[in-house]
Amino acid sequence: MGILFKNGLIITASDMFQADLLVEGEIITQIGQNIPAHDHHIVDCTGQYLMPGGIDVHTHLDLPFGDTYSNDDFDTGHRAAAFGGTTTHIDFVIQPKGGSLKDGLTKWRKKAKLAQIDYGFHMTITDPRAEVLAEIPTMLDEGITSLKLLMAYKDMYMIDDDALFRCMMIAKELGMLVMVHAENGDVEAILKAKLLAEGKTAPVFHAASRPPEIEGEATNRAVMMSGLTGCPLYVVHMTCEPAIEALRRGRAAGYPVMGETCVQYFFLTVEDHLNAPDFIGAKYVCSPPIRTKHDHAVLWRALQDGTLQHVSTDHCDFWWDGGKGPWQEWAATHPDGDWAAYEAQDPSYRRPGKELGRNNFAKIPNGLPGLEDRMLVMWEHGVNSGRLTPSQFVALMATNPAKIFGMYPRKGTLAIGSDADILVWNPQVQHTISAATHHMRVDYNLYEGMQIRGKPIQVYQRGKLLVDGETWHGQNGEGQYIPREPFAPLL
Ligand code: URP
Ligand code: ZN
Repeated sequence: MGILFKNGLIITASDMFQADLLVEGEIITQIGQNIPAHDHHIVDCTGQYLMPGGIDVHTHLDLPFGDTYSNDDFDTGHRAAAFGGTTTHIDFVIQPKGGSLKDGLTKWRKKAKLAQIDYGFHMTITDPRAEVLAEIPTMLDEGITSLKLLMAYKDMYMIDDDALFRCMMIAKELGMLVMVHAENGDVEAILKAKLLAEGKTAPVFHAASRPPEIEGEATNRAVMMSGLTGCPLYVVHMTCEPAIEALRRGRAAGYPVMGETCVQYFFLTVEDHLNAPDFIGAKYVCSPPIRTKHDHAVLWRALQDGTLQHVSTDHCDFWWDGGKGPWQEWAATHPDGDWAAYEAQDPSYRRPGKELGRNNFAKIPNGLPGLEDRMLVMWEHGVNSGRLTPSQFVALMATNPAKIFGMYPRKGTLAIGSDADILVWNPQVQHTISAATHHMRVDYNLYEGMQIRGKPIQVYQRGKLLVDGETWHGQNGEGQYIPREPFAPLL
């Protein structure tokens, strides 16, 4: 017995058509007109859209950052993702300083034991010693085809041009993709020190320490290295005109360069959000920083003209009002965090969060929530507003990332033989986004009060119903690791 979705409007990256869709076991086995009911379970989709489960290739679950860890893990983060229509994500493994790539992977595999949705891993190289570069080919055996290098976060994650160029040469030979966080970390470190020395410690100065020029410069540098090496490059979380222009120039020159932005960069501004009084601005501290309304328009254009291929979240959430209970004692005795266990002891306990930087913007943990909101917000402001067609939405949310990151056609589309990751999307349902109702483990929502029309009312993963209205049917351990293929297409 299978599941027969009757009379839905199927939306893929290329087509929209009315059809029935049959799932048997974990995969889609038929798409067509009047598929016989036999003894299948029928899901009446009249008036509903059927879309592939969303893919978010930029998340940081349970990430150590400064003196704390991001709140959502492979348990809460996965539940929240699925309620928002995302059924697969790729998280960033971090190579520990002094350790190997495998050491990082072992840590992330442990975190992912809680998985409820499907996931993959990118490998972040933070300590590019010769033996670590020699280890890169072994990542292919682990199903990891993308390397991330940070041109920012001096004295923490930053690598230099030598390492970036060497990694690109290796990745090119292996059919891997290099991802960069493109900000000039040397310049940022100088600007930050200068601002702090002048007593400029409020959250708004975070933006002044990371101006658009340092993002544009680093993006251009990485794009040129991609052109020189022929290594596919994917620039993460692009925010502003100088960076988009650098990517556009590279694509026009025929270089294998691609990019993403994140939902927050279409909506938040320095003036209205980062500059909010009473430390509210800390809620919006992320890197690169949120920008201006002008940059929002630049990003919408870059989505529409194909300069950008994906909208991710960079989900990495921290309490705004954290640090409750005897957290210092816990931190002293639990070097590996395990903050979920700390918070499980008492509902009032919270790990440290944004308040760590109350007197110094540089100590505010960087990162924002968004995994649950991504598809809802982009549907409302992309499709309902007429900026994107439904097929463009599917391409940006699912199909393009599946292709670029070597998961297509298993993931990212509705086709015979694909995993049955299916959203039953009601285009009429109204919803107000709020921290009071979201499923993310965080005490604020970037889009608080935003009214949206259209959301998934059922979410299936590999044929299993995960979300049914407000009911959660997922289980820890049921999410699968998705090994990925090298030599993925360039978009
Ligand atoms: O502010 C951010 N983006 N935090 C997460 C870590 C990173 O830089 O991607
Ligand atoms: Zn990130």
